[in-house]
Amino acid sequence: MRYTLNLRDTYMNNNVVIIGTQWGDEGKGKIVDWLTSYAKAVVRFQGGHNAGHTLVVDGKKTILRLIPSGILHENVICYIANGVVVSPEALLEEIAELEKHGISFCGRLHLSYAAPIILPSHVALDQAREHVLGIHKIGTTGRGIGPTYEDKVARRGLRLVDLLDINTLTEKVTTLVNYHNFLLEHYYQVKPIALKDILSTAMEWSQQLSPLITDVSHCVRTHQDKNEPVLFEGAQGSLLDIDHGTYPYVTSSSTTISSVFSGVGIGPSQVDTVLGIMKAYTTRVGSGPFPSELHDETAEYLAKQGHEFGSNTKRLRRCGWLDIVFIKKAIQLNSISCFCLTKLDVLDGLSHINLVIDYQIKSMLSLDMEEPIYDILPGWESNTAGIRDWAALPLNTKSYIEKIESLIGVPITMISTGPDRADLIIRKNPFQS
Ligand code: GDP
Ligand code: IMO
Ligand code: MG
Repeated sequence: MRYTLNLRDTYMNNNVVIIGTQWGDEGKGKIVDWLTSYAKAVVRFQGGHNAGHTLVVDGKKTILRLIPSGILHENVICYIANGVVVSPEALLEEIAELEKHGISFCGRLHLSYAAPIILPSHVALDQAREHVLGIHKIGTTGRGIGPTYEDKVARRGLRLVDLLDINTLTEKVTTLVNYHNFLLEHYYQVKPIALKDILSTAMEWSQQLSPLITDVSHCVRTHQDKNEPVLFEGAQGSLLDIDHGTYPYVTSSSTTISSVFSGVGIGPSQVDTVLGIMKAYTTRVGSGPFPSELHDETAEYLAKQGHEFGSNTKRLRRCGWLDIVFIKKAIQLNSISCFCLTKLDVLDGLSHINLVIDYQIKSMLSLDMEEPIYDILPGWESNTAGIRDWAALPLNTKSYIEKIESLIGVPITMISTGPDRADLIIRKNPFQS
């Protein structure tokens, strides 16, 4: 049995999952950070340091790639579960950077023994593949994410547990890097990676990371058994999902709800609420179809006003209108029960706002060819930045939000009106049922 019913259960949802419902960068990090004050633990369950989650607290910006966005809250434990691909190099850099800013990790960060390791040769393979694809490139973050997930599925990859046994580590690293170097040299015809360097770095990783490696599934289930609130932090967005996204222009993990179960090692009854994060317009980094993409001054306005360049790779994000058809798909894929609408304030200066409500041709086979059908709503042309109270929103803003709710049939229970942690309107906290 999961837990003994007590009084708290009658008003708490203990297990909340945060899922991006577009092509990533919806503002998940900010919302995870805010919700962490209601949680005991925060768990990353898929993706890797291709993610870039931005938190702003009292004007101070922190960008997280691998470390869960709950880390700024002192009494919360953060977990990187088995579904995440871990670059020890990136992780150690991120830890060092946060420590410089006074964040303490003592007993607060745990890594799953079963998480796959990203090696420098994975990064080289990722970049070599993109180079060969030329104009057809996926536009990956170049961080080695795809090749590492490939090695996991091919059952030849390394996992964090391999860092615990230095007697076998050399042989395991050598076998894998030799294979990568064969591909790099003979297929992609680029320079191989120096095995010697990887071997000595792997020994350092072993020393530094071994104390953090544990059975994360067990730890998370223990929190759940004790009835402690747990927040599960998704990376990327539903349209980047390897199965359900705009393939092949997707990432290499499942970015939808199923990853919580396989990526942590819990069952569906251990999730109470799925909070979808939806930006008030749409952005995309990298290549691939984007039917509501704009190429005019509104695109420039959204990019400038929303600071739409990658928090991770600094690439400019493509901008377009909010697509209700895709949001409905994300609702179905993830069983989303409530939404947080983010970056509402970015629309403040627009005289009209479009919503994609349908398509001329209904086929997911050739998104590029599809012509969106828009509903055009009046803008509000006044300031919503920093508003924290529903009643203070302009009438047209409320109508815009209510229109989205009526189209998607799921309530928008949180609204974000600025980058800062406190710039939020809470209509209902997802931890409260
Ligand atoms: P994530 O990957 O989903 O966590 O999102 P990112 O952090 O990559 O991108 C979201 C960007 O928008 C960051 O720069 C945030 O600081 C910023 N942001 C988040 N919410 C809001 C909001 O409501 N309004 C504005 N103006 N910016 C926001
Ligand atoms: P967060 O968590 C936006 C995109 C890349 C590329 C594709 C494949 O910050 O929302 P990959 O390196 O994963 O093989 O690249 O996926 N991508 C993201 N786009 N936000 C992200 O994460 C992303 N993570 C990957 O731009 O198009
Ligand atoms: Mg991001």
